[in-house]
Amino acid sequence: MAQSQSQVPDAKAGQTKAAACVVCHGQNSISSAPDAPHLAGQPEIYFVNALKAYRSGERKHAVMNVMAKPLSDQDIADLAAWYAGFELKAERKAK
Ligand code: HEC
Repeated sequence: MAQSQSQVPDAKAGQTKAAACVVCHGQNSISSAPDAPHLAGQPEIYFVNALKAYRSGERKHAVMNVMAKPLSDQDIADLAAWYAGFELKAERKAK
């Protein structure tokens, strides 16, 4: 898939648009629902590809297909920029 560079990602706008996502993916991009993945730490390109695949129906999930449907390419770019701004640190607990 060719990457479109026509959108200038705006993380601030992404924060506003993420209001619809926090109920499942958490205020700080750490999931607040047991069946929803953390969005922290995902690279922008992965995030954009995932949302476009949900939007087109190529990736199927009842909830995310509905959530992604109304998003424009600009919305997706903004959301990706917002979520890419969270840093995720993994720490191994087991020895
Ligand atoms: C009602 C709960 C809910 C809401 C609201 C929601 N999501 Fe999700 N999201 C999920 C679940 C559950 C999955 C896992 C779907 C799957 O298995 O493919 C998911 C998956 C994703 C993924 C793929 C993550 C990965 O690791 O592949 C992205 C990106 C994403 N959501 C972004 C968003 C954005 C952006 C919004 C707001 C516009 C949003 N979601 C709103 C529940 C939700």
